[in-house]
Amino acid sequence: MPDPESSQTLESLLNVVEKFPPPKKLKEQAWVKSNKIYEKAKRDPEGFWAEAAEILDWFKPWSKVLKWDPPDSRWFIGGKINASYNCLDRHVKTWRRNKVAIFWEGEPGDRRVLTYSDLYREVNRFANVLKKMGLKEGDRATLYLPMIPELPIAMLACTRIGVIHSVVFAGYSAKALQERLRNAEARLLITANHGYRRGKKIPLKKNADEALQDAPTVEKVIVYQRSDELTPMKNGRDFWWHELMQTVPPKCDPKPLDSETPLFTLYTSGTTGKPKGIVHVNGGYLVGTAITQKWVFDLKDEDVYWCTADIGWITGHSYIVYGPLAIGATEVMYEGAPDYPQPDRFWEIVERYGVTIFYTAPTAIRAFMKWGEEWPKKHDLSSIRLLGSVGEPINPQAWLWYRSTIGGGKCQIVDTWWQTETGMILITPLPGVTVLKPGSATLPFPGIEADVVDEKGNPVPPDRGGFLVIKNPWPAMLKTLYRDPERYRRTYWTQIPGAYFTGDGARKDKDGYFWIMGRIDDVMNVSGHRLGTMEVESAIVSHPFVAEAAVVGKPHPVKGQSITAYVMLRRGVKPAEGLKDDLKKQVRKEIGPIAVPDEIYVVEKLPKTRSGKIMRRVIRALISGQELGDITTLEDPSAVEEVRKWLKTVE
Ligand code: PRX
Repeated sequence: MPDPESSQTLESLLNVVEKFPPPKKLKEQAWVKSNKIYEKAKRDPEGFWAEAAEILDWFKPWSKVLKWDPPDSRWFIGGKINASYNCLDRHVKTWRRNKVAIFWEGEPGDRRVLTYSDLYREVNRFANVLKKMGLKEGDRATLYLPMIPELPIAMLACTRIGVIHSVVFAGYSAKALQERLRNAEARLLITANHGYRRGKKIPLKKNADEALQDAPTVEKVIVYQRSDELTPMKNGRDFWWHELMQTVPPKCDPKPLDSETPLFTLYTSGTTGKPKGIVHVNGGYLVGTAITQKWVFDLKDEDVYWCTADIGWITGHSYIVYGPLAIGATEVMYEGAPDYPQPDRFWEIVERYGVTIFYTAPTAIRAFMKWGEEWPKKHDLSSIRLLGSVGEPINPQAWLWYRSTIGGGKCQIVDTWWQTETGMILITPLPGVTVLKPGSATLPFPGIEADVVDEKGNPVPPDRGGFLVIKNPWPAMLKTLYRDPERYRRTYWTQIPGAYFTGDGARKDKDGYFWIMGRIDDVMNVSGHRLGTMEVESAIVSHPFVAEAAVVGKPHPVKGQSITAYVMLRRGVKPAEGLKDDLKKQVRKEIGPIAVPDEIYVVEKLPKTRSGKIMRRVIRALISGQELGDITTLEDPSAVEEVRKWLKTVE
């Protein structure tokens, strides 16, 4: 395990100067007005979560809140629930039936407005389509779709009949899709002919066809027609979404599912080359996302909420699909890039729909800063009353800019720390009670016990760096890794005694506020996307000329981290012109454009331990100008000079 103290990510980030208490008006009307809630939840966490679970409609009440047999948790035992019922049916029975659920905007400028009734109808029909395709409870369907309403529709249709969905981000390559289809043993793939990104058509169906060349479990493919362009359809395997929808009855009863039945799997990067299939279940996940959606964003029926994430990641699952729809919110969903056709696209959307709550990532905020204030200034953003941040540490400068330029100097910012694995936000302000410090995710949500500890699990003193851990179970926690329970146990529950290991470094200040410093394992965070160094390395090494590669994240002013690769060629191979471009292409093909390194250096040696493990820590320290720490285990110290040499050439 890495040493958090020596990690470059753990330097003290700043001296806080200013604090931001909640304005009186916000406090008065917030769902949570008093910090007594923390005490209450601490005294009786199970009672607290039981009360939280009342935010949902259950077909059958649970008999016990929690069975905790570390690392296995079972929540709301015996309860029967259905996510699609909670997100739709219960709203269409009330005045919300014609309330807008989703204001959708496509990148080319097409718009759709879906009320809760509209969504309900689409989901019912599509659930019948899934049945018609022969799918039943427990089967897996993989969704490889752009940010169009059909993505949440397909997800909710799956949950309606107990099919486990596995969404694959539409920016992933055919190869990455194939790996995920194979691991999930998906029976069905749902995709579109195209998606749009920065004005270009992304050929999703073409990628899908390539992936399906070796994904033997997939029997059928449903294709949504996003553009007029036709795509080859394989007879008996491929079906058009719109044609199937006309062949099925309009209603499909939601299936009461046990709280602990899987709701979805979502792949995320870890410290090996193989992505992990995180498994979330119906009951606890929905309770966790619904209550945090309501309290952290202080979301009311009259709000227009916009989370700019992609549903291909956990943020979109929890805070575009399940959280907002479970509580009957009105939200905005946008398909494309923030700077298409111009850098004010987001602000144009905020103005058009009167967005009141805006949730985005620090990398986006830093890009907005770079593009300049003139873009937001062109629009009326006065409707915004609360801002959110997620995905990586937000530097105080970006925090202050966000508050003044986007929030008009009047909005609180909820900096929410969580992970694919945690399912729900775990460390965050509550906007009506928490005094904010720019750059800090502040305090654990009520009922959550987080800490910063050393390797043995002992709390470290205030303002000292250590490992961020969670000490008690929470409802939306991951259940396991799909088909790999042993890796689940090993990755999260063996590194620090008695606690969930997050992989993040952090410090706690004297007021108990958490300052997240970023990953201390071999995981990078590039523009808010989580990528494993080994995943990128194995993509590079799959090139026939490459013997070995070491990939590290390098601090980057906009992206948070950028990818740098050091590559050793096979014996006898000379670094030819165009090799670096070939390697970039290789990564694009194996994973997708998000994983392409910014910089590639061909070297003759890599710093390794005597047992042959690449010491990425050493390279990371070198490229970010930090202390090297203990390098006595290095097999050949001259490798350090080799890396340093390349740094000099670029400086
Ligand atoms: O390093 C932390 C960072 O993102 C990681 C989780 O990545 P992922 O599973 O892709 O989920 C991202 C969206 C929830 C964490 O281990 N991270 C997430 N939120 C924050 C953060 N780092 C600092 N501050 C945050 N608010």
